[in-house]
Amino acid sequence: MPVKDTCAFIVANLRLQPAPGLPSILLYIAHPGSGLSRLGAGKSNDPPPYWAYGWAGGTVLAHHILKHPDIVRGRRVLDLGAGSGVVAISAARCGAAGVTAADIDENAISAVALNAEANRVAVETLHDDLLLGPPPAVDIILAGDLFYDQALAERALPFLAACRTVGIDVLIGDPRRATLPESRLRLIAEYMVPDFGNALEGRIVLGGVFTIAD
Ligand SMILES: C[S@@+](CC[C@H](N)C(=O)[O-])C[C@H]1O[C@@H](n2cnc3c(N)ncnc32)[C@H](O)[C@@H]1O
Repeated sequence: MPVKDTCAFIVANLRLQPAPGLPSILLYIAHPGSGLSRLGAGKSNDPPPYWAYGWAGGTVLAHHILKHPDIVRGRRVLDLGAGSGVVAISAARCGAAGVTAADIDENAISAVALNAEANRVAVETLHDDLLLGPPPAVDIILAGDLFYDQALAERALPFLAACRTVGIDVLIGDPRRATLPESRLRLIAEYMVPDFGNALEGRIVLGGVFTIAD
């Protein structure tokens, strides 16, 4: 039976707990008994439930923002490929003027809303593929672990480069996954953070914060 109320499902079946590597941020995280397949997540055309876990790219970026709040303070922020919304929540916590979390996965949008509420911050949600459009009206774009897939990386890089060209700051968090176009990026900071993945659960990796190279 498909789940009708995604938010009620998340609250009932995931655990609200400190985000991996980010003890000051609470997230609804999946566990083996969560039964995410009941949401359709990961089946046929439904996207995998990235939003239900912590990812090194988002964790390293959120950590960097929390350490350097001036990056977002008073600015309009877009968290692109928000997943759980961990990066958006860190930006909101650091005094961003407004934060929008965008994702193509409808379940992620529900998760972001719940996670923002759990952390008592305001985050707008946007269920849309912004890579198809022009640069958005924001001051800075934060993209945590968006370069996990070759086809997506090939779409994300020109979009973010176009945003950079019109003066939007761009920060990318990534543990140097194989599809990260690192030769087109400039490293800003590195931190050790936990990652998730079938074979990687619990592993600590070196995550990088990058921007688009000039
Ligand atoms: C690996 S997850 C990372 C989530 C989060 N940023 C983090 O680091 O925890 C990547 C996210 O990007 C989203 N995504 C993929 N393609 C996208 C697109 N074109 N526009 C917006 N989000 C996209 C996926 O649905 C997924 O939630």
